[in-house]
Amino acid sequence: MSELDHWHPVLLSRELSRSKPRAVTVAGRTLAVFRTTHGVAALDDACPHRGFPLHRGTVEHDALVCPYHGWRWSPDGRGVSPGNPRSKPCATAYECVERHGAVWLRRAGADTAFPYLDVGGHTPVGTAHTRVDAPIEVVLDNFIEVEHTGDVHTFLGYERARMAEVESETTVADDSVRVWNRGPQRPLPSPARRAFGIPREALFVDDWTTRFSPVHSVYEQYFVDARTGERAGDALRIAVFFTPVDDRRTDLAVFAYTQVDRSERPLVEALRLPAVMAFVRWEVSRDAKLLAHMADAPISLRHRALGRFDRALVASRKLLDRIYRGRTDAKLRVVE
Ligand code: FES
Ligand SMILES: [Fe+2]
Repeated sequence: MSELDHWHPVLLSRELSRSKPRAVTVAGRTLAVFRTTHGVAALDDACPHRGFPLHRGTVEHDALVCPYHGWRWSPDGRGVSPGNPRSKPCATAYECVERHGAVWLRRAGADTAFPYLDVGGHTPVGTAHTRVDAPIEVVLDNFIEVEHTGDVHTFLGYERARMAEVESETTVADDSVRVWNRGPQRPLPSPARRAFGIPREALFVDDWTTRFSPVHSVYEQYFVDARTGERAGDALRIAVFFTPVDDRRTDLAVFAYTQVDRSERPLVEALRLPAVMAFVRWEVSRDAKLLAHMADAPISLRHRALGRFDRALVASRKLLDRIYRGRTDAKLRVVE
């Protein structure tokens, strides 16, 4: 088992045009992704002939044509060389599907399940794709604790001065890590409060589960009116997939959903959803900007002074190594 055995969302659907292939890199391996009339396809980017990058080729009659000597490659990897008609060259092909507004791929024949995204009863808010200049471990650490929201986030999260009031519970299972947090929502400007329908005094609940095939966290985020104890405002469900580009970079694919109050006027709703997505993008971009300073930081958690919000980190590192990378010799020591 290795990284490419898992399904990864490598491109948003809107990032892949009908005619132009795209290069994507997963765990140091670069692939050419392209569209055919039957769907999406991916091949190793280096042309098996002389190594020209196939993503610079063109799609003709459902095959990817290398611009160097014109050899053509079918989505299943079978090649045809116009100058060597009897040869049967072969390229490495990947399984490729398009779901949830993204292009996903994995190694052909791998025995992994497609990640389940429960979006029933939810309205899509939007998708986003962000490159973070930091290793996947460091990026995941950021996305599985809320303590940073006081300093790094602008809208969603808890203010530093009241961080001690935030309750946080971590539950570790064989294949997942769940973290539940509840505390006073930081004060927000009224347009932001209106976009989410948040009461003036609100508790913010951020409840997520991280799984590792592939590495992804699904966040349930909602508000409780601090005076009545009733839920109020929008509930968001946000799935974030973490794809290692190489040892120093990580791609994030974000899928955001909400539960819509049908009684609202359609015009308000039409304006509100893009506003909510803009907030989500903004927070992710703030995290990405901060994490770029950690591209070369040592990733080990040993000898770190971890706090109560960091309980998910060590367990997640272990599951990432075991499930995602298929390593059985992970020797991270738990620091409680
Ligand atoms: S390098 Fe691609 S056809 Fe020659
Ligand atoms: Fe964050």
